[in-house]
Amino acid sequence: MADGGEKIVVLGCGGFIGSHLVERLLDDGYEVAGMDRTRAKLGHVLGRKGFEYVEGDMADAGTAEEMVERGDAVISLAALCNPSLYNTRPLEVIDINFTHALPVVRACREQGKRLIHFSTCEVYGKSKEGLAGGDGGGVATGALMSEESTPLILGPVNMQRWSYACAKQLLERVIYAEGSGNGLRYSIVRPFNVIGARMDFIPGVDGEGTPRVVPSFMKALMFGETLKLVDGGTSRRSFVSVGDAVDATVRILERAEASTGRIFNVGNPDNEVTMAELARLMINSYEKQTGREAVARTETVSAAEFYGEGYDDCDRRVPDISLAEELLGWRPKTPLGELIDETVGWYVKEYGEKSG
Ligand code: UGA
Repeated sequence: MADGGEKIVVLGCGGFIGSHLVERLLDDGYEVAGMDRTRAKLGHVLGRKGFEYVEGDMADAGTAEEMVERGDAVISLAALCNPSLYNTRPLEVIDINFTHALPVVRACREQGKRLIHFSTCEVYGKSKEGLAGGDGGGVATGALMSEESTPLILGPVNMQRWSYACAKQLLERVIYAEGSGNGLRYSIVRPFNVIGARMDFIPGVDGEGTPRVVPSFMKALMFGETLKLVDGGTSRRSFVSVGDAVDATVRILERAEASTGRIFNVGNPDNEVTMAELARLMINSYEKQTGREAVARTETVSAAEFYGEGYDDCDRRVPDISLAEELLGWRPKTPLGELIDETVGWYVKEYGEKSG
């Protein structure tokens, strides 16, 4: 809880995680100054006491410096994090995730403000087993990704999928160096596949292109289409609820001493599934919640067909969360079944009428 009068700057407040974080910060008594390019996901907090919304673009000169000045601590979430764009619009991906985020780091250092920066689990890249050609199966603890010991393994430059992970990794390295060399007070969050209400758009309804896997499957379910499994759906992901991720973030904010100079994995190691299993779970949840029979078909598509040239994939990533447990007293609470029901339920409610 805020002691009173503490003001938090949230950059990218209008994104999926930002929109949940602002609500929680206001509930906890913080004042919030938030910036984004759009307020579309902020209807539930606009007008609330203590929230100041600034419409703007982190790409504009002077914006970072001006926003950082407004608060006591800065939470930086502004990002372009849609995998279908990493290989198709790599320069934009690098600019938004590195070039336009860099002034925030510098401004925090110059103004002596604390920075909580949202990076990504994608910085880990491929798992060691995946690189060695293994199928990534089994639950050996060696598969867990740890903040301070796991190598970051990205593919070659012509596989432009890694433009995002590389940009995010470079910014982490700048932040780390600013911390160790210039006294920047920072914490870095590496979220692992956060899902929940208000995540991505549904193509053809409120956006165009390919969203992440959960909304892609939702689109197929709501419009009676086949669910597409990229390269057979053998890749694995560990999904965490946005509520759990926001809780970890607030704990980082509150425990400044323990969390400064630290990187935290924020994910749920108990919620690991293959994409084929995810499709099955979502089909079941959709049928249970709507009483409608889904087009319960899945089909395999090649990555090149689905994403275009230069796409590559992370075979598997499971977070080691022992650091967050030890330093923040945090453990995610939402099991996979509940999380999928919540997320599917939200999409059905929100888009149900639009999908007929
Ligand atoms: C995501 C994004 O990079 C970021 O949002 C973020 O930094 C991070 O990971 C995260 O969410 O924490 P990724 O997990 O690859 O990357 O995102 P998805 O688009 O959700 O893909 C997950 C898996 O599903 C991939 O193997 C993909 O090939 C597959 N997929 C996707 C399908 O099988 N079918 C689809 O319709 C869409």
